[in-house]
Amino acid sequence: MAELAYAFEGTPIPPGAVDPSLDMLAEITRLKKEQNAVILAHYYQTPEIQDIADFVGDSLDLSRKAAATDADVIAFCGVRFMAEVAKIMSPGKKVVVPDMKAGCSLEDSCPPEKFAAFRRAHPDHISLTYVNCSAAVKAHSDIIVTSSNAEAIIRQIPKDQKILFAPDRHLGAYLSKITGRNMLLWEGACIVHEQFSERELIKLMARHPGAPVVAHPECPAQILDYADHVGSTSSILKYTESHSARTFIIATEPHIMHQMQKESPEKTFIGAPGADGNCNCNICPFMGLNSIEKLYLALRDLTPEITVDELTRVRALKPLKRMMDMSPKSMAVGDISTIAR
Ligand code: 13P
Repeated sequence: MAELAYAFEGTPIPPGAVDPSLDMLAEITRLKKEQNAVILAHYYQTPEIQDIADFVGDSLDLSRKAAATDADVIAFCGVRFMAEVAKIMSPGKKVVVPDMKAGCSLEDSCPPEKFAAFRRAHPDHISLTYVNCSAAVKAHSDIIVTSSNAEAIIRQIPKDQKILFAPDRHLGAYLSKITGRNMLLWEGACIVHEQFSERELIKLMARHPGAPVVAHPECPAQILDYADHVGSTSSILKYTESHSARTFIIATEPHIMHQMQKESPEKTFIGAPGADGNCNCNICPFMGLNSIEKLYLALRDLTPEITVDELTRVRALKPLKRMMDMSPKSMAVGDISTIAR
């Protein structure tokens, strides 16, 4: 299991920067109009951020929305690599984030210079790279994938073409298993999805017989083996909406349950537990650095702003464009996973 070797200190809000008497919802709505901004949020954000966002989606939805928007400003509530993708796709737009320190353990596991060396050591492999990585790693990649399009993209690659997959070894192993493709895997992992406990999951399943288990493919195999459905955040949300069961066990970051509950108020969603028997250890500490006050400040001051140097951006855009071209059309913007308010 990956060590939780992070301090998770976000950027503090300077004293006096936010007037406590302000109505945040009204202020954010006003600023959004004034700045011609769009707020994009990932399902792992807090309920109040999800509820104020213009669009909530998975990584693929959000990158498509970022590419398609005609807003001048994108306020991106997720983690940094997601906002970077928005900037790569829409260089003419100002992309701001609530907290620049909202990183990702998968990104941290894959430093660009080590990744470049890995590629040089395997010149006969193409690189399929999970979107959870830096712009610099994307710039060294052939095709970017997200958890929602990875399988479909792998199936389009000729069988005799060797593939290396980075940085998530659990997602890579899962994709190898379902596609039958033997891929060379980078040794990264998501610290959040590695917290789930197989023992506690078995106990929870015994207490809720018949409740389908849904899991994100960043979970280790010993968790995925129990899942009735494995998919991206939007895919598991869709599954819980369309399945007739009344109770579901959810093995991913628990904030997605806010959206599940909104879409299916009559159903019950239970977070898969960590080793201590509760699911709080599965809250993403990076995503959690964002807050409504920091979002307000980002929209007011248009900072912190995401920048990507032009050479890296142009190189990173290529594999992202390939991803877009190779993604099945059914994964279009407007899919059920994208909630327009
Ligand atoms: P999705 O693309 O499924 O939203 O996954 C994003 C992510 O970072 C999961 O940890």
